Amino acid sequence: MGRKADKRIDLKMPEGALQTYKRLLGYLRPHKAMFAVGVLGMTIFAATDAGWAAFVKFFLDGTFVDRDPRMVWLVPVALVGLFILRGVGDFMQTYCPGFVGRHIVKTLRGQIFERYVHLPVSYFDTNTSGVLLSKLTYNTEQVATATTDSVTVFIRDTLTIIGLLGYLLYLNPKLTLFSLIVGPLIAVLIRKINLLFRRYSRRIQNSMGDVTRVAKEAIEAPRVIRVFSAQDYEARMFDEVTEHNRRSHMKLMMTKGMSNPIVQTIAAVGLAGVLYLATVDAINGLMSVGEFTSFIAALMLITAPLRRLVNVAGPLQQGIAAAQSIFEVLDAPLEDQGGRLRLERARGEVEYRNVEFKYPTAADPVLHGVSFHAQPGEKIAIVGRSGSGKSTLVGLLPRFYDPTVGQVLVDGHDAREFALDSLRAQVSLVSQDVVLFDDTIKSNIAFGFPATDAAIEAAAATARVNEFSAQLPLGLDTVVGDRGALLSGGQRQRIAIARALLRNSPILILDEATSALDTEIERQIQDQLEALMANRTTLIIAHRLSTVEKADRILVMDAGRVVESGTHQELLARDGQYAVLHRLQFND
Ligand SMILES: Nc1ncnc2c1ncn2[C@@H]1O[C@H](COP(=O)(O)OP(=O)(O)O)[C@@H](O)[C@H]1O
Ligand SMILES: [Mg+2]
Repeated sequence: MGRKADKRIDLKMPEGALQTYKRLLGYLRPHKAMFAVGVLGMTIFAATDAGWAAFVKFFLDGTFVDRDPRMVWLVPVALVGLFILRGVGDFMQTYCPGFVGRHIVKTLRGQIFERYVHLPVSYFDTNTSGVLLSKLTYNTEQVATATTDSVTVFIRDTLTIIGLLGYLLYLNPKLTLFSLIVGPLIAVLIRKINLLFRRYSRRIQNSMGDVTRVAKEAIEAPRVIRVFSAQDYEARMFDEVTEHNRRSHMKLMMTKGMSNPIVQTIAAVGLAGVLYLATVDAINGLMSVGEFTSFIAALMLITAPLRRLVNVAGPLQQGIAAAQSIFEVLDAPLEDQGGRLRLERARGEVEYRNVEFKYPTAADPVLHGVSFHAQPGEKIAIVGRSGSGKSTLVGLLPRFYDPTVGQVLVDGHDAREFALDSLRAQVSLVSQDVVLFDDTIKSNIAFGFPATDAAIEAAAATARVNEFSAQLPLGLDTVVGDRGALLSGGQRQRIAIARALLRNSPILILDEATSALDTEIERQIQDQLEALMANRTTLIIAHRLSTVEKADRILVMDAGRVVESGTHQELLARDGQYAVLHRLQFND
């Protein structure tokens, strides 16, 4: 798993670091002023470092050389003043970039989320939810760190070094120029280190996605893991992904651990040379004790920001890699928004014309030459073995996918001619796995649909949600728990039916809507289903043939083809596949 993931990473470097920097700068733009105040803070903070070196000269020369009596009070006052200034700068350089960073995180999260709800269904066939989740949580944080902490260090320490160098030049240009010789060497080294950091960061981020994915699967399926005693299996999977994560981290650590000593050693050699020359100058009386000490102090003060600059490469490159992976999501193509035709309310005529369909990820088509025609208000049942393509077939109607060949028509127009939102407003879907959100029953029924309380209550009554909600302490305002965990299958199903009732769309898809229920409850909610289907074109997929007997027409699917079609009586008389299925179900 690890190796495969790595290959993908190295190939997927979608844009250069420079473009990513530029694009990130775009996120900074709205907060220019705040950021500028932050930079001012950094400048003040950096200036106090050079100020500190100057203070050493001021103190030593004033006290030991000039023996100035004012030094007695000037020195403490200057010291406190210097630190107050440093404190103000420190606050500004912490608060302001933090402010900017949190705004950027929120903006990025908003944009990613917006994509997640608008990307085509097919996007989720190839991207696992763990990876997508960790982009939203982990990668955005890394961008925040890069744009705040790292940028702060980067700007402030660069300024500190410039300030100190300026002061050194002022003290002794010859020595300073000599000490700059090692500069280019260090620069080349840092560049190399940056590249490594970015590579390993990307690996870490991808492996975080895997960690989230496996953990999520385990957390979401507590029962199945226990009953199948799959704990060890899950633990092994988890160990594999965390091990990959650990190893990638260690590679980063290795780079981090090596980079510092190497850079420091080079700096130390340079420093030794400078010290040699400075000592010669001092012995020859070309430098005062204050100048000498101050020069050495400034030179020493440079090493700390230099080290921080080298260290910040890690988080900064992590941020760049994280931003690149976020921009991949933001740049993924959205759903085709369809044509310009809009429907007020469709009549509900549905036609499939010679439809062939292949999933983008699959090699072979799963639907072949499917054709049928449903008049407004007709009830078409679709039966067939599982995997025969029933769900795929009905999914083409709200355009989860588009046919590879052929057409799906609504009211005589190709579904693609309608604006996507307008098309989907005509279709309600109730499927086997009812998706409920951790909210009240009421909100789950409305699900963002602008409806009055009275309308929601009416839908709840028709779907007989009332029967069980009345037993609950808060009635329709009861919170159903994560994914409706606090309700039974039948209760969840009724909420789904109420949801579809409320939408009142002219076309209805029931995809095994009652398969999760036992026959008894199914019979109970049959009435609600009848109420739901009334006056609507309905495509009903059902496992139990008893529920489809009343359909106007039954399509029998096998391996992606419609092999038989007709009414219940016709199909029984024909004595084909349907008759076989029927005998199998009713012989006991
Ligand atoms: N998202 C997908 N990507 C690739 N293949 C899929 C996808 N969903 C379903 N399939 C395949 O398409 C075929 C038909 O599946 P489906 O329409 O769900 O059948 P049914 O609803 O009749 O049980 C199956 O072979 C299934 O493996
Ligand atoms: Mg299905």
